[in-house]
Amino acid sequence: MSWEKGERIYDGKGKRVYALKGHNDVLLQEFKNQLTAFNAVKVSELDGKGELNCLITTAIFKFLGEKHIPTHFVEQTSTTSWVTKKLDMIPLEVVVRNILAGSTAKKFAIEEGTPLEKPLVEFYYKKDELNDPFISDEQALMMKAAQSQKDLDTLKSYALAVNKALIEFFHKCGIKLVDFKLEFGVSMDGQIMLGDEISPDSCRLWDEITNEKLDKDRFRRDLGQVKEKYQEVWTRIQKEWSSYV
Ligand SMILES: Nc1ncnc2c1ncn2[C@@H]1O[C@H](COP(=O)(O)OP(=O)(O)OP(=O)(O)O)[C@@H](O)[C@H]1O
Ligand SMILES: [Mg+2]
Repeated sequence: MSWEKGERIYDGKGKRVYALKGHNDVLLQEFKNQLTAFNAVKVSELDGKGELNCLITTAIFKFLGEKHIPTHFVEQTSTTSWVTKKLDMIPLEVVVRNILAGSTAKKFAIEEGTPLEKPLVEFYYKKDELNDPFISDEQALMMKAAQSQKDLDTLKSYALAVNKALIEFFHKCGIKLVDFKLEFGVSMDGQIMLGDEISPDSCRLWDEITNEKLDKDRFRRDLGQVKEKYQEVWTRIQKEWSSYV
């Protein structure tokens, strides 16, 4: 399929989103080299980061498609861009945790790295001005972030299905899936599906043997070798999942 880039719809922190001429139901998304943390308080530019995220995210979305999880993925169009279905985004970040780290470890003063008995699913309200706060199911309904409890339950069950698939995906690469963030939306025919991206920007990934961090925490915490570790994730995916790259 050949696509003609239309007007720019959104210039986000990690991606630029464009319309595609003659198509109302799809979008072009270009992955940026910009890296941000703490709601864009910390910003940097990292050559080649957009490409690595695009390659990693595309492989993962293809894999999830094979696992029968509905996603917005349509086609990869270059090493830094893909075409997706256009979704009406649900303003929730759906976070799944297998091992405690980051804000939830801090909130309960539990040591980072503590494994959870079962995966924890959390919702955060997507609103930069409010710093994307934690939101309960009832609050999400009050704010009309989702239409119904049934939809929230669908988000949770998709998030757990993604988690199960991704644990397998990363385990084969010798990587522990600590936690990750998902975004969902509603397609034009009314179906809830997985949107946005899954990359080292949106996951915590630790080496299974050394616990070395292979994700955006390297940037957040000034650990250095950010690009090298994103590259390491991609190299392992290429080796273990060559059918999806
Ligand atoms: N399939 C899709 N259809 C419509 N919008 C999408 C789709 N996939 C992702 N998006 C949205 O496009 C934008 C992608 O850009 P990016 O991830 O850079 O945004 P961002 O700066 O993180 O902003 P936000 O605070 O909205 O997440 C996000 O707002 C995301 O929710
Ligand atoms: Mg984003």
